[in-house]
Amino acid sequence: MNAPSSHRSLPATPLADLHFARASVADCDALARLAREAHTHPWNAGQYRDSLKSGHTCWVLRAAEGQDIFACCVTSQLLDEVEVLDVAVASSCRRQGLGASLLQQVLAQLPQEIARVLLEVRASNRPARSLYHKLGFSEDGRRKNYYPKADGSREDALLMSLVL
Ligand SMILES: CC(C)(COP(=O)(O)OP(=O)(O)OC[C@H]1O[C@@H](n2cnc3c(N)ncnc32)[C@H](O)[C@@H]1OP(=O)(O)O)[C@@H](O)C(=O)NCCC(=O)NCCS
Repeated sequence: MNAPSSHRSLPATPLADLHFARASVADCDALARLAREAHTHPWNAGQYRDSLKSGHTCWVLRAAEGQDIFACCVTSQLLDEVEVLDVAVASSCRRQGLGASLLQQVLAQLPQEIARVLLEVRASNRPARSLYHKLGFSEDGRRKNYYPKADGSREDALLMSLVL
């Protein structure tokens, strides 16, 4: 999930004042635009729509309702576990604490019954691995050749978890 370059401008609102909110189906085009900046194999708007309709939750940081989305995190709950399915920060806003702030807010609002948060990350994705370690996740497994790469080869997924 290397990040291609971005044409998105910086938000007029200071990053610290962006709102933590739940995205709706109306936001799927904006989510797909953000995904194209962030991932080599991005979800399209239809995939975000299907994800929301299937009961997943998409948390975002944005200036205001209906305005640009600068970071997103999709989660899925199954019994007492939550899986993080997607994390992306607009490339013009990276390395300013947005990813950590978004995930901290996602973790803070989890229901009491959640015992563990799980995710998968490309082995080559140093920024994301470092972010998850910083938040307390540990690496506890590996799926060989799980992710396709842009050049047609494949790479391992690392399985990470956070016990709450
Ligand atoms: C990974 C990603 C979400 C990080 O978002 P971000 O807003 O830039 O991260 P933050 O500024 O909150 O950084 C928090 C921590 O993450 C790590 N980190 C973030 N970017 C990093 C980088 N380029 N290199 C090394 N560590 C990095 C650091 O530990 C950092 O803490 P520090 O600032 O104290 O060093 C962002 O780079 C991104 O959207 N990447 C493309 C999509 C992606 O890879 N998503 C994850 C898929 S599993």
